[in-house]
Amino acid sequence: MKLNLNNTSLRISAGLAKQFPAERIPQVALSGRSNVGKSSLVNCLLGRKSLARVSGEPGKTITVNFYEVDRKLFLVDLPGYGFAKRTKTEQQKWSNLTDGYFTKNPNIDLLCLVVQLVDSRIGPTKDDIMMLDFLSEYEIPHIVAATKCDKLNATERRLAEETFAAHPSMSAADGIIFFSSKTKEGRDALWDAIVSHCKL
Ligand code: GTP
Ligand code: MG
Repeated sequence: MKLNLNNTSLRISAGLAKQFPAERIPQVALSGRSNVGKSSLVNCLLGRKSLARVSGEPGKTITVNFYEVDRKLFLVDLPGYGFAKRTKTEQQKWSNLTDGYFTKNPNIDLLCLVVQLVDSRIGPTKDDIMMLDFLSEYEIPHIVAATKCDKLNATERRLAEETFAAHPSMSAADGIIFFSSKTKEGRDALWDAIVSHCKL
């Protein structure tokens, strides 16, 4: 099935679980720390310059953003974690909403894939590892997108490929895709993974 990428829109920026959309179409969720490149990845995948807001001020918007793709798929941008300057209240809102995505989402059975973003230069943070282990424990299909790989030179790239593949939390994923929103490297591979997991 072909997806018409000219037919995409931000369906809702949900600040509350009860705002999650009711449509029975597959969902692909994007998870990662604040500033890792989630919004840029959405724009790159959808071939849009600024459908998803690329943040000047990281971690400030705590919402779950549902992008509807050709009425056949939701790309779901989960709120970024690990933002140090968050207040306790903001942190609580983050936890409620992110937990809510998994526990209060009426269509969680349609979650086909989680794309866990990990900064290719930094490697997995403690929070990334927690998320990866959560996904493995609950047998939620997931892959790793190693972001901002345009910033690595050839030696750094080889090293990152080796250490990511050997990492116990990342080797459990269905794959690791080195990705750059700047050069579009990994875009086709990521679409292939999405299409096959969602059986589109
Ligand atoms: P939050 O919404 O705050 O959670 O951040 P985010 O994960 O959505 O990150 P966002 O896409 O807003 O990108 C954060 C910064 O990284 C921006 O300055 C982007 O321009 C930059 N960036 C994102 N992807 C890439 C990439 O592939 N290569 C390079 N060089 N920079 C990138
Ligand atoms: Mg963002």
